[in-house]
Order: sequence, then structure tokens, then C-alpha cells
Amino acid sequence: MSAPAGEIIGGMATIGFIGSGRIGGTVARLSVAAGHMVVVSNSRGPDTLKDLVAELGPMARAESVDNTAEEGDFVVVATPLAAIRHLPVRPLVDKAVIDANNYYPQRDGHIADLDSGQICSSQLLQRHLLGASVVKAFNNIYYHHLRNLARPAGDPQRSYLPIAGDNPQALAAVGQFVDQIGYGVVDYGPLAESWRQQPGEPVYGAPYGPMDYEQGRPAGEGAIRTALDAASRMAP
Ligand SMILES: NC(=O)c1ccc[n+]([C@@H]2O[C@H](COP(=O)([O-])OP(=O)(O)OC[C@H]3O[C@@H](n4cnc5c(N)ncnc54)[C@H](OP(=O)(O)O)[C@@H]3O)[C@@H](O)[C@H]2O)c1
Repeated sequence: MSAPAGEIIGGMATIGFIGSGRIGGTVARLSVAAGHMVVVSNSRGPDTLKDLVAELGPMARAESVDNTAEEGDFVVVATPLAAIRHLPVRPLVDKAVIDANNYYPQRDGHIADLDSGQICSSQLLQRHLLGASVVKAFNNIYYHHLRNLARPAGDPQRSYLPIAGDNPQALAAVGQFVDQIGYGVVDYGPLAESWRQQPGEPVYGAPYGPMDYEQGRPAGEGAIRTALDAASRMAP
């Protein structure tokens, strides 16, 4: 039985990935490096993930999306936004679900509730995943930067990531996980506030340096808090 809302027992967990491309694959690599088991999935099936599993090693396996949702103590969703309406609901009940997705209308198609600003994209995922606890994380950092800026706690060059969610237990578990894979967290509020880390806002991408500088630039807690405070609800 999985831990409630993704609690990490004894520091080691099974992390499921629905979407295992640039951002999902990067978080999976960092997860294995931190000692976690990972289960990866995509739209085309486990056979198409052999190369990633081989690279990740014995801590990793590929499964269907449904099995990944079942087996993950918590699950990272890193797909095009349009895919979220197909995510299985029942196996994710009572689990923390990390939402790394972004809404780009030109890529994802227009969604009226997001265009109007009525809800944030992570609230759209939460609406679909009834009974799960969605936490927004990893959406605001370029995958090369995420890979290259990971540092252990106490390192003066450690970077921070914003997280938001409605369930304190899920936020704590995700914060612990993010800490283990190399980042501090700034937990700044509920999902309704997560527009602060959506595309176009100051904390989106820029604090970690330009995308053509793959190494990335460390962004400490103060820089992330300042950027979140400067957010001004851009139209998507
Ligand atoms: N790239 C970045 O640096 C970055 C950073 C932060 C956040 N993000 C956000 O993260 C999300 C993913 O971006 P990405 O760059 O990682 O994209 P990507 O490299 O194209 O990977 C997308 C993954 O989602 C899978 N997928 C697509 N439809 C699916 C479905 N219905 N069910 C299960 N898996 C499905 C794809 O599998 P198939 O290949 O089999 O279709 C692929 O594994 C986007 O919302 C993006 O805005 C990206």
C-alpha cells in the first residue's frame, strides 16, 4: 500500500513518471541518483522506453501509464497539457501528484478557463484527478538547468524551486523529495496561487539563466522569493 499523499518512508520511494521525455526523464535521472526506484511511462508504451531504462539502470523499469499510476508512491506528470484528460484517476487517489506541465495555447490548444485566468493549469489537473493531491513543481526550470544545477543541502551554490499545493502533507513529501534530488523549495501557497510560477512570470525560467547557457545559473531562496513576489498574472 502506498503512503498517504506521497509520504517518503525511510527516505526511499518509488516515483512514477507519466511522461518521460525531457523534463520527466531529467527528474527520473535525479531520482535514481538520489536512491529512489522509478517507473517510467509514455504514450507509446514501455518498449519505447528501453534506452531510458537502460541508462537509468536497475532502479528503473518501464510500465504502462495505468501501472505507473498504481505503482508510484507518488507520480510526476510531465506531458503535453492536452494529455491530462486521459490520466487514470482511481490509482492516484490519496497520492501526491507533481505537476510539471505548462499551458502554451499555441501548443496545447485553447482552454477557456485558463485563457480567462479563472483557474491555473495545475487546478485543471486537480479537477481531473479527484482525490489526488496535486503539487506544482519543476514546471519553471529548463530541463538542462534542472539537471546541471542540482546540489546537495548545504552547498552554497544550491538552487531553489517554487512549489504550490493544497495538501500540507503532500507539500511536505514533495519538498522532501525535491530536497533529496538537489534543490531547496519555496512553498509559497495553494494551487490557486500557482499562476505565480506559470509561463511569463518572473520565476519562470529566468532565475536559472538563459536557455542557451545549458549549465544554468544557481538561484537561491531569496531570488526565488523575490521573483514570486514580483509576479503579476500574465495572460497565457
Ligand atoms: N522541456 C523543458 O525544459 C520543460 C521544463 C519544465 C516543464 N516542461 C513542461 O513539461 C511538459 C513536458 O515537456 P517535455 O519538454 O518533457 O516534453 P517531451 O520531451 O516531448 O516529453 C513528453 C512526454 O510525454 C509523453 N506523453 C505524451 N502524451 C502522453 C499521454 N497521453 N500519456 C502519457 N504520456 C504522454 C511523451 O511520450 P511519447 O513520446 O510516447 O508521446 C513524452 O514521454 C510540458 O507541459 C512542458 O511545458 C518542460
